[in-house]
Amino acid sequence: MTMQPLILLAGLLALGVDGSQPSAPKPVAAPMRELPWGQLNFLATTDTHGWLGGHLQESQYSADWGDYISFTEHMRADADRRGVDLLVVDTGDRVDGNGLYDGSAPKGLYTNNILQRQDIDILCSGNHELYKIPTSEREYNETVAAFPEQYIASNIDILHPTTGQRVPLSRRYRQFKTKNQGIHVLAFGFLFDFTGNAHNTFVQRVEDTVKEPWFQQAIREHVDIFVVIGHVPPHSPEYQAVFSAIRSQNWDTPIQFFSGHSHVRDFAKLDDKAYALQSGRYMETVGWMSVDGIKIGGKEVDAERGMKFQRRYIDNNLFGYHHHTGLNASTFPTERGMNASLAIASARKSMKLDKVFGCAPQDFWVNRTPYPSPTSIFSLLVDSILPDILTPTDPPSKPRIAIFNTGGLRFDIFKGTFTKDTTYLISPFDNSFRVIRDVPWEAAKKVLPLINAGGHVFAADSGSLEEWRLAPPQQMGVQSDTVAEETATHSSRGGAQMPLGGGREDEVPLIPGYTTSDDGGKDGDDTAHAPLSFYRVPNVVESRMGFPTDVGVPEPEAVDVVFVDFVEPWILLALRFAGRGYEKGDVQEWEGGRGFTSMLVEWVAERWGKGDGEGGC
Ligand SMILES: *[C@@H]1O[C@H](CO)[C@@H](O)[C@H](O)[C@H]1NC(C)=O
Ligand SMILES: *[C@@H]1O[C@H](CO)[C@@H](O)[C@H](O)[C@H]1NC(C)=O
Ligand SMILES: *[C@@H]1O[C@H](CO)[C@@H](O)[C@H](O)[C@H]1NC(C)=O
Repeated sequence: MTMQPLILLAGLLALGVDGSQPSAPKPVAAPMRELPWGQLNFLATTDTHGWLGGHLQESQYSADWGDYISFTEHMRADADRRGVDLLVVDTGDRVDGNGLYDGSAPKGLYTNNILQRQDIDILCSGNHELYKIPTSEREYNETVAAFPEQYIASNIDILHPTTGQRVPLSRRYRQFKTKNQGIHVLAFGFLFDFTGNAHNTFVQRVEDTVKEPWFQQAIREHVDIFVVIGHVPPHSPEYQAVFSAIRSQNWDTPIQFFSGHSHVRDFAKLDDKAYALQSGRYMETVGWMSVDGIKIGGKEVDAERGMKFQRRYIDNNLFGYHHHTGLNASTFPTERGMNASLAIASARKSMKLDKVFGCAPQDFWVNRTPYPSPTSIFSLLVDSILPDILTPTDPPSKPRIAIFNTGGLRFDIFKGTFTKDTTYLISPFDNSFRVIRDVPWEAAKKVLPLINAGGHVFAADSGSLEEWRLAPPQQMGVQSDTVAEETATHSSRGGAQMPLGGGREDEVPLIPGYTTSDDGGKDGDDTAHAPLSFYRVPNVVESRMGFPTDVGVPEPEAVDVVFVDFVEPWILLALRFAGRGYEKGDVQEWEGGRGFTSMLVEWVAERWGKGDGEGGC
């Protein structure tokens, strides 16, 4: 007997029943659509934001990075059997937004190593890797160093951590031939025209990068396919610029784009031979792409076939992974995958991410219910949390308003345990509150409507104040203000195992989840779901405190304007528009500049607490 089965068995016992994290809910059976294979196939992740442990309160997305590694190993073996090729890509924003990343000091102590256990063929940076100097330095020191061939930075430079010299973050492009068919690939890796980075990195506008001599030379290479990955949304001026530049030299070569940043599932047709796929966010989705009819070395492989681009959005759970590989709980986990799952479990344990602060009495949603409403997380914030945590310690308290950007609460709160992990999911940022005192009410009351009118009002004046940074990123990808689907039901999320019916989709009770409509139609999701509703929320919300409540009492003359520090530039701009010029010097810390996240933890413990810090709800 070899050691390997023993190690696997030990792993299975330490983890959940079949991989995943110990506390992950069991995946739910649902009607599935198959993965279409082509000559060249891709698995693509984006905007994982540290969610390598999967979703521990949503069974639909409960597989972890280790399960994804096992899945990839099986799919690569399948590609070998079929004589086709499979490439694995990731388009950035791997940091910020989950306790597994944010809970360590320094941040990312565990995640970089776990990430590197996946065999990735092409990866690039997102904007979140560049907000802070230590984050981008660690990206350079660790992730670029681990993937020197695979990491592409077509438009990013960094000041070298030791020499201080400005150098490319990584290589500008990559050429290689695929393993089984020798398909000649040329790959680029872009970041959108981002301006919010720290001063140790440099992002060249994509529209300028495509004019660089190295890029102009690269697109003149005779290759079988261009693969353009980027932290760039599918429908974007940046990708239009890359597309036009490549097409000006290659009218006929297929181009496969991979996207990121706007946190939604999306697929865009640029022309008959150029498509872009974006795989959602937070390890909810693994994108599958297959390209067929590629001419290898100019030779048509199968003239009958013609070119075909097909996509699938895989829900990240073991039910689907078993289905797509034809394996089961005992045959699916690989040693490498199991190792990664164990590393995640041990990191979660050492950071005590399962520590319970309280019990949420109900669900509170970011975009699934309208604001204001009793189930909106922003109504909870404005009506309950802010008035509690922003009551000054020294009364009497003056009338005051508090302004909070909706993008500052990153995720839903689910009924049940509110853990240390939950805290990072909801509020991964180190934000604190600031105040401008005694602002005339005539000006203060215009701040909210001005910031929410956003783009139109500030366009000329706001310079690099990018409005998208205020609201939840997933709103970027949603055009309409109206409700996507009124018919959604929310009740059956979570552990409830549903039996798979007689095989006909219309007989099976569907679990709510993504029902994507994109340039390829409505059949992209690998799992048939009942639709979820999506409501746009404003850029910022406002809480009013200490206002006269009696009818007939006039509005206050002046108020204190309290705000989360992130929105300070917008507050100053809005007040200027409202006719009151304030300077940075007029802004003070609120109550010693305590962090919002720790105030939230205290609030949860006080309002929803159970006292013992252990156990379930
Ligand atoms: C990156 O590596 C350099 C050289 O070893 C080191 O001086 C620097 O502190 C590292 N940066 C981070 C953030 O770890
Ligand atoms: C999984 O599949 C293998 C091989 O087909 C089979 O021997 C085993 O009993 C199955 N295990 C489970 C848990 O279904
Ligand atoms: C799994 O982890 C162990 C201990 O960390 C290590 O010795 C082994 O090489 C790993 N195996 C694989 C396949 O990664």
